[in-house]
Amino acid sequence: MAFPEGFIQELKMRNDLAEVAAPYVTLKRRGRNLVGLCPFHGEKTPSFNVYTEDSHFYCFGCGAGGDVISFVMRIENLDYVDAVRFLAQRAGMDMPENGYDDSLSKLRKRIFEANREAARFYYRSLYQPVGREGLDYLHGRMLTDRTIRHFGLGFADDDWSSLTTHLKSLGFTEQELTAANLALPRRSGKGVYDRFTNRVMFPIIDLRGNVIAFGGRIMTDQKPKYLNTSDTPVFQKSANLFSLNNAKNAGTRTLLLCEGYMDVIAVNQAGFQNAVATLGTALTGEQAMLMKRYADEVVICYDADEAGQKATARAIPILRNAGLLVRVLTIPNGKDPDEFIRSQGADGPEAFRAVLERSGNDVDYRLQKLRSDYHLETPDGKVQFLEAAADLLAALTSSIEQDVYAARLCKEFEVDKTSFLAQVKKRSNSRRRDAYRKEQQKIRSDLSGRGDRVDKDKSKAPRSSSAEEALVVYLIRNPDAAQTIAGEVAPEQFQNALMRRYYAYFLQRIINGLEPMTNITADFTADEANKLYQMLGKHSGVAQTKQSLAEYIRVIREESVRLKADEAGGMTGEQLNDYLAKIRKVKN
Ligand code: GTP
Ligand code: MN
Repeated sequence: MAFPEGFIQELKMRNDLAEVAAPYVTLKRRGRNLVGLCPFHGEKTPSFNVYTEDSHFYCFGCGAGGDVISFVMRIENLDYVDAVRFLAQRAGMDMPENGYDDSLSKLRKRIFEANREAARFYYRSLYQPVGREGLDYLHGRMLTDRTIRHFGLGFADDDWSSLTTHLKSLGFTEQELTAANLALPRRSGKGVYDRFTNRVMFPIIDLRGNVIAFGGRIMTDQKPKYLNTSDTPVFQKSANLFSLNNAKNAGTRTLLLCEGYMDVIAVNQAGFQNAVATLGTALTGEQAMLMKRYADEVVICYDADEAGQKATARAIPILRNAGLLVRVLTIPNGKDPDEFIRSQGADGPEAFRAVLERSGNDVDYRLQKLRSDYHLETPDGKVQFLEAAADLLAALTSSIEQDVYAARLCKEFEVDKTSFLAQVKKRSNSRRRDAYRKEQQKIRSDLSGRGDRVDKDKSKAPRSSSAEEALVVYLIRNPDAAQTIAGEVAPEQFQNALMRRYYAYFLQRIINGLEPMTNITADFTADEANKLYQMLGKHSGVAQTKQSLAEYIRVIREESVRLKADEAGGMTGEQLNDYLAKIRKVKN
């Protein structure tokens, strides 16, 4: 059972979307709506819209859309029930007693509990005979017991069942343990076994202090070196960062982005609490947006090897796009931060601080890399380098930044600043035009439904789909007209399966006296809801007159009897006559 509708209605009324969104996104008024930089993806021009009239949002950049509940689900990474709870608390409302389906919420809670118990179990094992090897390994990597405790590191033994046995004794079911990815089902289909064995364990903790996942490192050269929890109902590796829970309390708006668990821990032990790492994957835009919430600046501290440098080049635009200042750390002698700190012995912390202070910003870093690609001792090489440098500077959005670097380069290479800068601006303008054109193209193709994942029928039947979309929106905006509309068009006459579902859903709600949009977040998948809010946004402000209503209905009826040539070909004479009669009826 869902929440009582009256409750959800009041909840939405008492939680104004613009107010709820305010801490996460700066909104400016534009006409009747509010716009800002989307908090769900990195962008430079605002395409995140809040429609105050009917209290929903839609981002034309990434296609995220929804009501105040789905906003909280996304931004706080909560499930439906917990997002409702969050908003109820915010508005000082009591949650209804029972009666609603919170099975996912309950499962998530059980997974958090199982993970917490698992972390305790792994930590305890480290200091028992069975964990000797693990403790020796961590000590061998120069971690102190204090650091081990601080990060809650642990050990998964080689028994394949000790954790599952322990957690079952605490009342966890096999189903809960597999959902948490702490256990895997046996091939035989009966029973489960431990997911992690013979590894030192790194718990991953979210911003509320929940243990959401684990990473485990093997203590030899075997592969895979690291094993991570797969995605579960509480964990999405592309949306979390190791040790952000810790780093956010470091009292600085700078984060140190490392490649791995051991780097983060070594950097912490050296006195820098503000280190984080991605979880065995390349940096995502989501992770960059997450960092932006706690930082203004990120120092990339990846390995000095080739793979690390490639990853750095990939990470720079992602971080910049999220609005972060970027610096790049260059560690001497091809080491990673952990190895570097250890190699300096007692001077590790000081040495790391020195490297940190020397780290240049990303533009310096990229110009430096670029230099090494050209023969600067020849005039040709110089020209080519300056061309490439002009391209690089053209990509910067701040013209002050462009000026500063251009001045520096021109001085060094003794070229005329005015003409160089003119080159940069020219390229910069054409880049901006291209970007704008691409964005517009994307919006157009989104609106036309090409490549639409949820609405597969749109490209097959564009004409009827458009009319059906418009009719669905009209219905939502004009519930009084529901009876009349229902008499004119039956859901079966819709060509587009998704629109047919929306249409039937809203008709039924309105006829039952319910407010159309109250329960969208509960009744549709996130993709389906996005699509719906996209439609509402698209038709926002467009006067939907009685005349246009008549036009939508006409098109839908016409299309519903229009025959594809192949279908007509297979008709008997009698069927064809019926069909023609039907068309005539519609036309009149
Ligand atoms: P140490 O060898 O323990 O110092 O780790 P490292 O951090 O120096 O390792 P490396 O640079 O090889 O890897 C960086 C990060 O990539 C690790 O922290 C992991 O998150 C991830 N990673 C490395 N190897 C694997 C692997 O075999 N599987 C997975 N899933 N992730 C890995
Ligand atoms: Mn390492």
